[in-house]
Amino acid sequence: MKIATILGTRPEIIKMAPIIDEISIRDINQIVLHTGQHYDKEMSDNFFRDLEIPTPDYNIHVGSGTHGNQTGLMMKGIEEILIDEKPDIVLVQGDTNAVLAGALVASKLHIAIGHVEAGLRSFDMTMPEEVNRRVADVTSTMYFIPTEQSAINLLAEGFSRKDMFITGNTVVDACFRHLEIAKKRGFEDDSLNDLDIENMENILTLTMHRAENVDVKERVTNIIGAIKELDEMNIIFPIHPRTKNTLENFGLFDELNNLPHVHIVKPIGYLDFLLLTSKSTLILTDSGGLQEEAITLDIPALTLRYNTERPETVTAGGNILVGSDKEAIIDNARKILYDKEFADRMKNAQNPYGKGNSAKSTVDAIEKYYSKGLLDIKAPEEVMGSFTRKMASIHEDIIVSDFEKNENALIRMVFDGQKMCFPSDNLNLNGMMITYDKY
Ligand code: UD1
Ligand code: UDP
Repeated sequence: MKIATILGTRPEIIKMAPIIDEISIRDINQIVLHTGQHYDKEMSDNFFRDLEIPTPDYNIHVGSGTHGNQTGLMMKGIEEILIDEKPDIVLVQGDTNAVLAGALVASKLHIAIGHVEAGLRSFDMTMPEEVNRRVADVTSTMYFIPTEQSAINLLAEGFSRKDMFITGNTVVDACFRHLEIAKKRGFEDDSLNDLDIENMENILTLTMHRAENVDVKERVTNIIGAIKELDEMNIIFPIHPRTKNTLENFGLFDELNNLPHVHIVKPIGYLDFLLLTSKSTLILTDSGGLQEEAITLDIPALTLRYNTERPETVTAGGNILVGSDKEAIIDNARKILYDKEFADRMKNAQNPYGKGNSAKSTVDAIEKYYSKGLLDIKAPEEVMGSFTRKMASIHEDIIVSDFEKNENALIRMVFDGQKMCFPSDNLNLNGMMITYDKY
């Protein structure tokens, strides 16, 4: 079997690293293809070093550009490589333009696609990420889904649960493994050592890069207004290149950089960043990965967004959506700093993203599909089977897998009277309402 992994940005390198590792310890061929969307050493090469994964086999060097330009160049480059390499499955991760390009190209070449971190939805189609992840889900063969809540999003859109694998998120694998290494090593980044982070207290770590925040002057101004007022905190701000460009263009960079309690540094390596996160009193961010890491490391998070495709972090109590509302940012940050009970409740939120064995579950599922021939993408040869869609209320003890076997059916949805439930094989359907396809 040959697996091709496509990645192109910082979070994809971090979240695919555990899977690349897992594939390499099994007897499986793999190629890794970098789109070159992120190209600065601080956004790309340093992560291969910190995560101890080999340099990619290919780099398409697409660089920066408009969405159409970047995605088009990626598609061209990815197609040439996939035609040549003929992998059995292509893995894409998350919601970047690499996911869109990789999924479109592979599906047209009839190559199976595994979408890692599938099923997330912000329900905001103005976000490029929402478009990318939805397209990837439509074309995918296997879905590696972090939580039941994301699986339910896919069920509601009509995808078959047979291809869904609730694996947790590989960010937990990466986090647990590398935090230990980071703790033994200590801070290495010169700018962090100059600040003596090791002995610093009341750290607020800030990251932001979302187009809907940093490209909109009013929103950035509100966020910076809050940062200015929070001068009882040490604000460490590893700045994303996009954000540096826009702050400079808006004429806001110098003022922020001159505030004594704000420390703007270049994007930092993964080990240093994990260590910084773990020492922080709170995280202020619009990053997807950081919302997950914060709850994994028991650090309260305030998210600079009005929606999140990670609602589990909010319902668990570890994350609060503050948008770009200056007062909400200041009030919640101060509550975390001064109200111990409030902060402890956030810290004690249960991590919904699994126990750190997500990469193993993902590669196990791929091997199983491969051995059963389920990665062969063919047009159906038999005369199309017919099925009818039905609904029923169940009043007996019967588990999902038995119901499906007895009825030659596939359960689509399950309602327990209050909410949708994921139809895992062992779920007892007694007292529930179901919809199913009968073949
Ligand atoms: C991309 C992803 C986003 C992800 C983020 C992770 C898409 C649509 N967006 O956003 O989902 O959360 O990566 O960080 O795929 N730049 C540099 N050096 C680099 C890379 C970028 O200077 O190595 C600058 C360029 O000016 C570029 C800008 O940052 O125009 C934005 O980069 P781009 O890759 O287009 O989007 P991100 O904001 O990084
Ligand atoms: N990160 C890092 N150094 C930094 C900032 C972030 O290593 O200076 C890591 C962080 O640990 C997380 C990931 O980058 O795993 C998040 O990437 P980003 O916020 O760029 O993308 P998103 O997750 O929003 O797609």
